[in-house]
Amino acid sequence: MSEIKDIGLYESGERKIQWVKANMPLLRALEEEFSADKPFKGLKVALSVHLEAKTAYLCRVLAAGGANMYITGSNPLSTQDDVAAALVKGGLNVFAKHGASAEEYHAHIEKVLECGPNVIIDDGGDLVNTIHNEYPDLTSGVIGGCEETTTGIIRLKAMENDGKLRFPMVAVNNAKCKYLFDNRYGTGQSVWNGINRTTNLIVAGKTAVVAGYGGGGEGVGTPGAALGGKGMVSGKGQKKGMEGGRGGGVPNRLGVGGGGRGVFI
Ligand SMILES: NC(=O)c1ccc[n+]([C@@H]2O[C@H](COP(=O)([O-])OP(=O)(O)OC[C@H]3O[C@@H](n4cnc5c(N)ncnc54)[C@H](O)[C@@H]3O)[C@@H](O)[C@H]2O)c1
Repeated sequence: MSEIKDIGLYESGERKIQWVKANMPLLRALEEEFSADKPFKGLKVALSVHLEAKTAYLCRVLAAGGANMYITGSNPLSTQDDVAAALVKGGLNVFAKHGASAEEYHAHIEKVLECGPNVIIDDGGDLVNTIHNEYPDLTSGVIGGCEETTTGIIRLKAMENDGKLRFPMVAVNNAKCKYLFDNRYGTGQSVWNGINRTTNLIVAGKTAVVAGYGGGGEGVGTPGAALGGKGMVSGKGQKKGMEGGRGGGVPNRLGVGGGGRGVFI
């Protein structure tokens, strides 16, 4: 059972998944191991991620390990309909559409949780929050899970401090390699990729204001400077602002400066 835009889109989605597979040796090795050992046999896995080719291949690897996958996209704007179609064509359950409304997005989260998951893989905290708020009876079936991003971990910590979190969660974002390659380099690359495709304008000479100079902000600032942009960063506290200044930007407070034409990130 699935809810996607159009199953007929699967061929281009399949090509994208095969391409990333050819470039993801660690997941390929895990696929081989999981296919033989079936460590997730009989487990239902609810998963909410940016649904594109690389994460789709992760879904396939977990399924190869015996998991019954129930998949949604953590942000309707990053969901790729052709990739979702390829997953459904391969027999996985997907509830996600590019550009879904807020109501559709929430309904997809609910559909995924209604499987009664044993494991939750979350990006941003919506699966974990919704299961606690709307399906508290299902939390007893959850062995545990993992959370991908900074914001989701902030939400989890708040739940834990209030004594509300009912199962253990691994904070993937705290892994130094994840933080370096995803938050810093991955976000830096994809943010500028998106801006360049959308605006079709040259960056050199423009002012780019980056709000928040943590891992993501630093990753965005560095390629922006390499493209010739004049950087301004806004960090919480003087130190972060100064670090941004050293990276080629101008220490600044959000809302001050950046006048004229530029980019706000
Ligand atoms: N879409 C993705 O693929 C993806 C990947 C990684 C991170 N993220 C998201 O990007 C965001 C940043 O993540 P990060 O890992 O860089 O976090 P981080 O904690 O490393 O950095 C956040 C920075 O923002 C600053 N900050 C906080 N409040 C501020 C305010 N009011 N004004 C100015 N600065 C402020 C903090 O001082 C800190 O330096 C999070 O929401 C995270 O979930 C998205």
